[in-house]
Amino acid sequence: MRILVSGGAGYIGSHTTLQLIAAGHEAVIVDDFSRSKRSVIPRLDALAGAPIEWYAVDVTDRDATESLVAGGSFEAVIHFAGLKAVGESVEQPLDYYRVNLGSTLSLLAAMGRHGVRKIVFSSSATVYGENAAVPMEEDFPTSATNPYGWTKVMQEQILRDAAVADPSLRVALLRYFNPVGAHASGTIGEDPSGIPNNLMPLIAQVAVGRREKVMVFGDDYPTPDGTGRRDYLHVEDLAAGHVAALDRLGTTADPVSTWNLGTGTPTSVREMVDAFSRACGRALPFEIAPRRPGDIAESYADPSRAETELGWTADRTIDQMCEDTWRWQSQNPEGYPDDE
Ligand code: UFG
Repeated sequence: MRILVSGGAGYIGSHTTLQLIAAGHEAVIVDDFSRSKRSVIPRLDALAGAPIEWYAVDVTDRDATESLVAGGSFEAVIHFAGLKAVGESVEQPLDYYRVNLGSTLSLLAAMGRHGVRKIVFSSSATVYGENAAVPMEEDFPTSATNPYGWTKVMQEQILRDAAVADPSLRVALLRYFNPVGAHASGTIGEDPSGIPNNLMPLIAQVAVGRREKVMVFGDDYPTPDGTGRRDYLHVEDLAAGHVAALDRLGTTADPVSTWNLGTGTPTSVREMVDAFSRACGRALPFEIAPRRPGDIAESYADPSRAETELGWTADRTIDQMCEDTWRWQSQNPEGYPDDE
């Protein structure tokens, strides 16, 4: 298949692009490089063993997206592009609605005009909201507690409505839990702009000396060690989930499929700091800090639907996730080089 990968220069998009190519697909990256660097492209080319077609286009731009899709002969779109920082979304809600909803609308419009019938969407476990039971199942009700989360809930709804209006459309809503890790080469990985919001890049920056210590947000949660527990999965397993979902969309009777992508096993913040300390060979300093507003005690998937329907499981261990993150971060302490 020839596949348009929006946000293909980003963390999850770049790993998925490589796996699409390895599976025999032709992947075409479209990215506005607002939260990614152009220097990822030559590294992807090296890993793929051939140049990857890419376009510097903002997919919220309807005309530009239309031109790209019109001439593209794409069979599917994987839509990663979007803004994803919870705190920033509270401060700049309109940007989040404009970018996240706008990109989905312009891609769907262009797909409709040019006969592209499959879309795989980057959703998030955030759509289970605040009070969901664990493990989380796809049929649970959706809600959100911040504008970022609402954009994911709303984009899922937009995609469902589009599939009602056009039953030939095939939509995969992939609800990611907590993606971490990096490509085994250590040449591509997660490189958040500014101060990272997420635990793993923060730990990695402490390990490499960019930050002094890990702040552990709360040790009084109702969990075994009191710190928050999450379902971390290796980005390479997550990327494989996209390839499996795309294959499966060719045969689904239902226009819309929803799949949790997680391991089903929670790991605490303290356990993660310990695992990373083993990986980098040094006990990483941490300090207990107050809970972060809006955080929940536990979030982990029931991944059984993806296992049954996609034949997919996330098997890489926490130690592998930490070792691969450490390889990437130690080889690239400042992340990707800045664009010229
Ligand atoms: N944590 C710390 N210290 C830090 C950062 C995080 O202790 O410096 C803790 C958090 O309190 C939480 C765990 O580490 O217990 C994981 O936090 P992340 O920010 O890495 O991940 P979240 O599960 O909070 O957030 C993720 C996604 C969001 C999404 C959310 C809800 O990053 O996009 O899941 O699904 F909204």
